[in-house]
Amino acid sequence: MRTAVYPGSFDPVTFGHVDIIERASKLFDTLIVAAMVNREKMPVFSVEERILMLKKVTAHFDNVKVVKFDGLLADFARENGADTIIKGLRAISDFEYEFQMAMVNKKLNRSLDTVFLMTGEKYMYLSSRVVKAVGSFGGDLSEFVPQEIAGEVAEKLLSRRK
Ligand code: PNS
Repeated sequence: MRTAVYPGSFDPVTFGHVDIIERASKLFDTLIVAAMVNREKMPVFSVEERILMLKKVTAHFDNVKVVKFDGLLADFARENGADTIIKGLRAISDFEYEFQMAMVNKKLNRSLDTVFLMTGEKYMYLSSRVVKAVGSFGGDLSEFVPQEIAGEVAEKLLSRRK
């Protein structure tokens, strides 16, 4: 049984993330989507909100679990029986940082490898930051986040401006 972990802030989850989840779920027996509590980044959505949204948009994948994580990813992977980290790469500019993180994670957990999946070409431009920027001005989010969560994402982002 191969288990992989797909970690991130998911603040909020986008179509780009769902595309990576769908493709990674076909490569592994179990995929754990791990939402980072993230003390450094001051997320807009609480970790509970991010997890609920992730659960809604991944409900149709049988082998995907969504969990919260806080601490080192290398430890989380070990504790959860995962030997692979999944990361999405949008552009070469993502690579340098991700390459460094992959090496740090390998130093901390020798049995852990990082597998990079290229972001689907439809989603190269898309990030949670773009969603937050557009949503904060009341822009249409239908191209960016799944319909199941579009209403709550739009409402929260607009309410923060008031
Ligand atoms: O979606 P993001 O914000 O790019 O995700 C970043 C994340 C959560 C994958 C990264 O910050 C992370 O792995 N955090 C856990 C702490 C850790 O293990 N850091 C690596 C050693 S410095």
